[in-house]
Amino acid sequence: MNNFEFKNPTKIIFGKDTIAKLAKEIPTDAKVLVLYGGGSIKKNGIYEQVQSALKDIDYVEFGGIPANPEYTVLLEALQVIKNENISYLLAVGGGSVIDGTKFLSAAALFEGDTPWDILSNRKPTLKGMPFGTVLTLPATGSEMNSGAVITRAETKEKLGMGGAGLFPQFSILDPQVIKSIPKRQLVNGITDAFTHVLEQYMTYPAGALLQDRFAESIMQTLIEVAPKILKDPTDYEAASNFMWSCTMALNGLIQKGVPTDWAVHAMGHELTALYGIDHARTLAIIAPSHYQYNFDTKKEKLAQYAERIWNITEGSLEDKAYDAIERTEQFFNQMGIDTKLSKYTENFDGTAEVISKRFTERGWVGLGEHQSLKPEDVEHIVQMAY
Ligand code: NZQ
Ligand code: ZN
Repeated sequence: MNNFEFKNPTKIIFGKDTIAKLAKEIPTDAKVLVLYGGGSIKKNGIYEQVQSALKDIDYVEFGGIPANPEYTVLLEALQVIKNENISYLLAVGGGSVIDGTKFLSAAALFEGDTPWDILSNRKPTLKGMPFGTVLTLPATGSEMNSGAVITRAETKEKLGMGGAGLFPQFSILDPQVIKSIPKRQLVNGITDAFTHVLEQYMTYPAGALLQDRFAESIMQTLIEVAPKILKDPTDYEAASNFMWSCTMALNGLIQKGVPTDWAVHAMGHELTALYGIDHARTLAIIAPSHYQYNFDTKKEKLAQYAERIWNITEGSLEDKAYDAIERTEQFFNQMGIDTKLSKYTENFDGTAEVISKRFTERGWVGLGEHQSLKPEDVEHIVQMAY
């Protein structure tokens, strides 16, 4: 096991009807900006619950943050923060609204030339404006981590940011919010969380027995509850297990003391930036090719995953490892997710070259757990995913 430090300061308030507890978490003298997305919260009752919880709090609202939070929209919100002397932010939404709020938390206190520098410089944000979240869509884990991913349509870029100053102060997780989530987004949430675990697990054995079993238990739980949630999103037991699994998949715990990969996400973000494909679906496109291409360096963990997650016990280590990649792809396909780029766009020719060139230009010359994947490897992996 590798050395590590672990601190996660986000307070989680989990369970039925917990949105009502919101106001207790916000300083009474705060001027709050409530941020939300395209309007789902106005149709499913979450908006009213937030309004009623905030009745004694001084707040203004900013709605319209799109999926894959867009930089130019966030700049409008930044203007509101300045004009209204906002001192506290409240995100009510999924990963996109929460990530947008993290960007604003950093941008509100940023002293550089342009807020885009926060993304292009890749310097960690150590202090941000305080914020809390009400999670409406389990998927990203953003409610309990300090990372964010921001899109700029003008340049077709999607870049990550983060830092110790960007953990939410609190996050409210009421599994009842799942009732109104469309099936497409539920499937995305399961796939995203599952791939988050893979990124922190599918590397090489590091003698971290507990972390491996944490990771495996999250994947097992997601596989078990997926059909239940898709059949009946009002199934509270399934919903609560789904929601907590998504948070645990990316709140920092399972990655401590072990190598991590994250190359699937790096390539996936480019597919969203270029073609607007849903985040989770880009991961399902890239992951099988990535594991096939890097088979030799990952086969031990692939075989362990085969045995412990998919109960594959027959054959050699290599046979099990191959079967496990297939089972993973089938899992995504069975939920209705296509795992080839050509199913999402007709104009995929040249995509691999564009992505590899972008990585070279950004100076990204060592992806994966061994930092050994060069832009030309990325090109091969993306081509295999056509
Ligand atoms: O915008 P509204 O109208 O609210 O509708 C949203 C949106 O259209 C809808 N939705 C959310 N909660 C709902 C609901 N519809 C009905 N009922 C509800 N209760 O769902 C749609 C998708 O929402 P979005 O927030 O975009 O989805 P998700 O949570 O999957 O977030 C995706 C974003 O998070 C980033 C992704 O790259 C992407 O930009 N990620 C953030 C991470 C992080 N911060 O740690 C890690 C992830 O790997 C990921 O990169
Ligand atoms: Zn993800």
